[in-house]
Amino acid sequence: MVTAHVQPGVLDGAAFRADFPVFDRPHRTGRPLSFLDSAASSQKPRVVIDAVADAYAHHYANVHRGIYELSEDATHRFEAARDALARFIGAPSAREVVFVRNATEAINLVAYSWGRTNLHAGDLILATEMEHHANLVPWQQLAAATGARIEYVAITDDGHLDLDDLRARLARGPRLLAVTHVSNALGTINPIVEITRMAHEAGALVLLDAAQSVPHMPVDVAALDVDFAVLSGHKMFGPSGIGALWGRRDLLDAMPPFMTGGSMITRVTLDGADWNEVPWKFEAGTPAIAEAAGLAAAIDYLEGIGMAKVRAHERFLFDQAWAALSDMPGIRFLGPDDSDEHAGVISFMVDGVHPHDVATILDGEGVAVRAGHHCAQPVMLRYDLPATTRASFSVYNDLDDIVRLTDAIRVTQRTFGTA
Ligand code: ALA
Repeated sequence: MVTAHVQPGVLDGAAFRADFPVFDRPHRTGRPLSFLDSAASSQKPRVVIDAVADAYAHHYANVHRGIYELSEDATHRFEAARDALARFIGAPSAREVVFVRNATEAINLVAYSWGRTNLHAGDLILATEMEHHANLVPWQQLAAATGARIEYVAITDDGHLDLDDLRARLARGPRLLAVTHVSNALGTINPIVEITRMAHEAGALVLLDAAQSVPHMPVDVAALDVDFAVLSGHKMFGPSGIGALWGRRDLLDAMPPFMTGGSMITRVTLDGADWNEVPWKFEAGTPAIAEAAGLAAAIDYLEGIGMAKVRAHERFLFDQAWAALSDMPGIRFLGPDDSDEHAGVISFMVDGVHPHDVATILDGEGVAVRAGHHCAQPVMLRYDLPATTRASFSVYNDLDDIVRLTDAIRVTQRTFGTA
């Protein structure tokens, strides 16, 4: 139960809500919005919205092209956003940060560019049963194109990656392991330092899907010792349409372009072209200029809070929500029950009610959650479920959201006569 004597969250959720204009908008019920779907996409603080507007209003021209003040200003700001992101994720150099549209595009870039250059028929790619479709389908397509094989590391009943299964599959000599840092469907935080050590000892590169970790906890790609990492700006208070690939410089230097065209070249003749240096070699065409300004503002906002505090706050909310839902009849959970290993994402089932119906009734109570397969259908198959309901937390949530969630689940159960 959530009780009045429970200490408040590490951060003041209500104070954060004041930074996010969406919370000024009344829900159709007349109640304030309880937004528990940040794992799908976060809301945007006013500073990010203002930074995008300011970029268009006062600093906008194409980048890397104009020999005039406005273009040089835009270019400087665009590259400053790259510097900020490199610092934020512990990248040794901003030259290793490639701007793309989102984490999905970043994985496609690696699968296409690194994969088609380096993999051959019979080579092994490892992914896990826990991956988002974005970290499965590009590897399946790569395997189809090259004749490489894919194997998947199993998940345990309680939502961990099965490290014995990983060890056994690494012994078969895969070239690359594609693994998520945090499962968007289970909430599991994977032990990436240990996994990377095991993979490297077996000679495999590691691509980390950090889309669900970078917005919610300190992430240092150098300390994790991975070889590639991908993220999306829209999940970390930034705009949609901008994300990033970080890769080890030697790997990026050796990779051919993914897309070709303007900006990614140094010289073009009618017979061919020479490629620009990284990261620009991978940034064909006009990039997301104003979105980069918004992403820089989002990073500044997150750094102003401190990622350790973000993690502590969301962990506190997870613990409270898990305890409150555990007290209720007819609720089943997916994923580890220990908040050391669980991010601020709770995937659950209400017995006797389809998750889509749960989400619809919750919406009628002003509580926004995601229901479905969460773009992770193999996870649903693993637990023999059609879908789950998922609540996910951010800095603008507090104990009131958990009370609203549990109250709305009780309404659901009364409506369906299941409890
Ligand atoms: N990957 C996003 C989610 O988990 C869309 O909801």
